[in-house]
Amino acid sequence: MPIEYNDMVCSLTAIERERMPAPMFKFKQIRRMLFFNLRYLGRPRWDTGVSPPELEAFLETAKPGSALDLGCGTGTNLITLLDHGWTVIGVDEVCIAVLRARRKLRKAGYRGRVILGNVAGDLLPDKHFDLVLDIGCYHSLHEKARKKYHQNLRRWLNVGGTFLIYAHRKNTPDVGHGITETDLTRFGEFLKMQWQKNEAEKRPDGGCGRAATWARFDRV
Ligand SMILES: C[S@@+](CC[C@H](N)C(=O)[O-])C[C@H]1O[C@@H](n2cnc3c(N)ncnc32)[C@H](O)[C@@H]1O
Repeated sequence: MPIEYNDMVCSLTAIERERMPAPMFKFKQIRRMLFFNLRYLGRPRWDTGVSPPELEAFLETAKPGSALDLGCGTGTNLITLLDHGWTVIGVDEVCIAVLRARRKLRKAGYRGRVILGNVAGDLLPDKHFDLVLDIGCYHSLHEKARKKYHQNLRRWLNVGGTFLIYAHRKNTPDVGHGITETDLTRFGEFLKMQWQKNEAEKRPDGGCGRAATWARFDRV
């Protein structure tokens, strides 16, 4: 009998509307999920509570619409989007992160959905967004999941919409983590790149100096 993803992570079934796909029990995927789940037992280093200037700059000029935050973590960027008048849905595969994000929205007096789900699963099949945001999620996906993510993104992003992504760059070819020029070219197959910025990771705490990329794609 397939094991439900929700049952494996924690028992959230009663409060979840979305069903999760059964996971493929591969070592790397379990290791990746364990990594994120364990990180959220404390406060992960990326959970700075501050939205990056690249997102703030986009929001200063963009007309508010609907946004999907992929790998939303504890919801910092959902709040920033809501502060700018956007409607939001956040997705994360770690239930502690999802619960913290929901609490953050509630405490701020905002309405918004935060879903426990896999961005590379069959999620939100009928939803379309003006902005899809990914800060640090895509770069940890394995190849097959990246393909599904691309399919989902094609479905989710409205014509005229924007895909804003921040990702670590892949330094070693045989290591799974990181984004490559090939990944960016693949986004370019159905989106128009507006800009790309390659630089060392920056965070309020200084970051770890890791090579990273910000890019903005629009659906024309
Ligand atoms: C580096 S953290 C960034 C979190 C948040 N975007 C932020 O800026 O604070 C990446 C997030 O992506 C989530 N994540 C990774 N793979 C995922 C997947 N396949 N589906 C949903 N969430 C995922 C992790 O649980 C984690 O919360």
